[in-house]
Amino acid sequence: MAGRAQPVQQAPLFQDYELEREEFLRISTLAYEAARLNLHEGKKLLVQNRLRKRLRALGLSGFKEYLIYLEENPEEIRTMVDLLTTNFTRLFREREHFDFLRDEVFPWLNASGFERIRLWSAGCSSGEEPYSLAVYLREYLDGVDQKDVLILATDISLRALSKAKEGLYREEQLRDVPAQWKFKYFRKCRSNGESCFRVTPELSRLVRFRYLNLADAWPMQGPFQVILCRNVMIYFDKETQQELVRRFHRYLVPGGYFIVGHSESLTRIQNPFRHRKPSVYRKE
Ligand SMILES: C[S@@+](CC[C@H](N)C(=O)[O-])C[C@H]1O[C@@H](n2cnc3c(N)ncnc32)[C@H](O)[C@@H]1O
Repeated sequence: MAGRAQPVQQAPLFQDYELEREEFLRISTLAYEAARLNLHEGKKLLVQNRLRKRLRALGLSGFKEYLIYLEENPEEIRTMVDLLTTNFTRLFREREHFDFLRDEVFPWLNASGFERIRLWSAGCSSGEEPYSLAVYLREYLDGVDQKDVLILATDISLRALSKAKEGLYREEQLRDVPAQWKFKYFRKCRSNGESCFRVTPELSRLVRFRYLNLADAWPMQGPFQVILCRNVMIYFDKETQQELVRRFHRYLVPGGYFIVGHSESLTRIQNPFRHRKPSVYRKE
C-alpha cells in the first residue's frame, strides 16, 4: 500500500497547506499537458491558494497526497484545471469592441446576406461575453429571427459554464449595461435574498454553451463570421498561441473577424490575419 493517498478522516479546518517547489512544478506540468495553462514559478502562491479548498474537501493532508490522488484519479485533472482558471469577466467588457461590432461587423453581416450566422465566444467564462453579443445581435442584426443565428460559447471551466447557463447576475454586475437594455433583456428577480437579474429567453435562445478545451480537437464544423477569444490566450505560451491563432483562422469565413483582448496582440506571433485595428483581425 506504500505511496497510496490515505484521505485523513478530517483535515483540520485551518490546516495551512504549503506547496513545495517540486510539487508546484509537477502541478504546473500537469496543467500544461491538460490545458496548456502556462503556470510559471511566479504563480506558486496562486496555485497553492486556489487548490487549498479542494485538498480540504478531499480530506487530504497535503499537496504530496494530492499528487498521489491525481495519479490514482486521473479525472481529478479536470477539477484541478477548472480551479486554476481565471474566470474574471464582465458584461460589455471592453466596450470599444462592441462599438466596432455595431459600426463595422454588423453592417457587413447585414450587407453580405448570410442566412447562417455563427459567432464564437471562445473562453466565455460565466456567460457575460456571449450574452452581451446576443444583445447586439438583437439590436443590430437585420431579421435576426428569420435567420439561422447562433453564438457558440465554450469554456474549459465547468463551474463557469454552469453559472453561464443559469444566466443570473447580481444587480451590480449590470452596471455597464446601457439603461435602455437593462429591463429589455434582463428580468429582475431575487436569489439568496439579493436583487438579481436573469437574462430573458430572447437572449438565451441565441446562445449554446459547451465544454471545450481549446487544447483538444474541436468537434464543431464552423465556419464562423466572428470569433472572440478575449483574455484567454494570455494564459498560454507563445507556441500555443501560435497554434490556436492558425486554427481560429481556418474556422472563419473569408472576411471574418477575429477579436482578442485589448491587452493582447498577435504582433509577436506569425499569423495569417490582416490587422484591422488594435486587437481586431480579419481573414482576407
Ligand atoms: C479571463 S476569462 C475571459 C472571459 C471573457 N472572454 C472576457 O474577456 O471577459 C478566461 C477564460 O478562459 C478559459 N480558459 C482557460 N484555458 C482554457 C482552455 N485551455 N480551453 C478553454 N477555455 C480556457 C477560462 O476557464 C476562463 O473562463
